[in-house]
Amino acid sequence: MTRRTLIAGNWKMNGLADGLGFFAEIAPAVAKADADVLVCPPATLLRDAARLAAPHGVRVGGQDCHAATSGAHTGDISAAMLRDAGASHVIVGHSERRADHGESDGDVLAKAEAALAAGVTPIICVGETREEREAGQAAAVVARQLAGSLPVVSPGMELVIAYEPVWAIGTGLTASVEDVAAMHDAIRDQLPEPLTTCILYGGSVKPDNAAELLALADVDGALVGGASLNPLDFMAIIKAVSRKSEPLR
Ligand code: PGA
Repeated sequence: MTRRTLIAGNWKMNGLADGLGFFAEIAPAVAKADADVLVCPPATLLRDAARLAAPHGVRVGGQDCHAATSGAHTGDISAAMLRDAGASHVIVGHSERRADHGESDGDVLAKAEAALAAGVTPIICVGETREEREAGQAAAVVARQLAGSLPVVSPGMELVIAYEPVWAIGTGLTASVEDVAAMHDAIRDQLPEPLTTCILYGGSVKPDNAAELLALADVDGALVGGASLNPLDFMAIIKAVSRKSEPLR
């Protein structure tokens, strides 16, 4: 039994309809990929992206969802709406949401539960700040975030974890392979379904560092921000997936 590698792009607040040729451009790499490929465009593009991505075997996801199914929440989008627009996944608890919108672990848990209830796979993001790492608190912070934001998963439900050190996001800095390996190992030990849950690494994943990060036994893929905006860079990251067919521990 193996976990299938997932390469997920997070376009953040970038992208207009005229950029959706992206999916046809990355198709050659996707066709040969030993990985699932997901792109999370802004919500405005989701339905068109789903239509254009599907023929190439690429799935699409949301970048956030509200915890409620519907109601008086101006500007928000529910998980059911994301699914209706074609999303298979939704990112929850991204550090930019935690920072910009004050989202707590409890908020992230509620969003992850809403996603699961709507049949959308949550990608739950955790990660420490630079100050927390320098204070030797990285493992404790991530363990606390996980404990507070991991939903109870029923059989047949899937969730994905993304370890994204905040100081590595959009900075060009990446955690060392030793630190990533140690953190992913610790995260796996805390998961209710450790064998089948994908743990992605995110934070300045680029064509030149993807292969060594993806080669780590407990790194089951990548959540890619900046480099997912450029089809050539994103293709290079997809191509960096080596056969990760090690037996599961
Ligand atoms: P980055 O973003 O690859 O630009 O560092 C990653 C993320 O925020 O998911």
